[in-house]
Amino acid sequence: MARTMNMNNVMVLAIAIVAISVVLPTTEAALYTVGDELGWAIPPEAGYYAAWASKHSFFVNDILVFNFTEGEEDLAMVTKEDFDACNTSNPLFYFDEPPTLKFLASDTFYFTSTFDGHCPRGQKVAIYIAPSSATPPCPSPTAAVQAHATIPIKFVSMKVKQGKRS
Ligand SMILES: *[C@@H]1O[C@H](CO)[C@@H](O)[C@H](O)[C@H]1NC(C)=O
Ligand SMILES: *[C@@H]1O[C@H](CO)[C@@H](O)[C@H](O)[C@H]1NC(C)=O
Repeated sequence: MARTMNMNNVMVLAIAIVAISVVLPTTEAALYTVGDELGWAIPPEAGYYAAWASKHSFFVNDILVFNFTEGEEDLAMVTKEDFDACNTSNPLFYFDEPPTLKFLASDTFYFTSTFDGHCPRGQKVAIYIAPSSATPPCPSPTAAVQAHATIPIKFVSMKVKQGKRS
């Protein structure tokens, strides 16, 4: 009898450990520098940033740093249409200094440079932010729509140390 109980306890413990190790990577916010060492610049080949993004899985609360020198580059968040067309005449958000962005909602976000000719040469990246497993499900469709209507990105400290995980 006691032996059976012990086995059951061992099983429960083993299951709990597996559950924790699966959940942990998505509950901790991660910090990424877009493009790694290249930072935010005209890439060596047009597919560079798409390849960089596809190497990572981004989740709600993750932080992206766009690293560039003010005046030499800029950053615009645009619609998918404008992203595809490299049209930066009417960005959703515009940053003339390197921003650190924290993503607060699941969505696909489209970024490019407004500098002449940079977007067509591949300085553009689409970032899919997956829902975090730590985010509680939306209580109602109305709440989901309201949450979506608020600005889903916000600034975090501009002085976040680059390369460090939060
Ligand atoms: C770029 O987008 C704006 C609206 O955001 C539009 O008025 C303009 O015609 C577009 N330009 C091109 C070249 O598609
Ligand atoms: C950001 O860019 C500067 C200048 O190019 C560079 O020295 C620095 O290492 C970059 N930081 C990261 C995290 O890539």
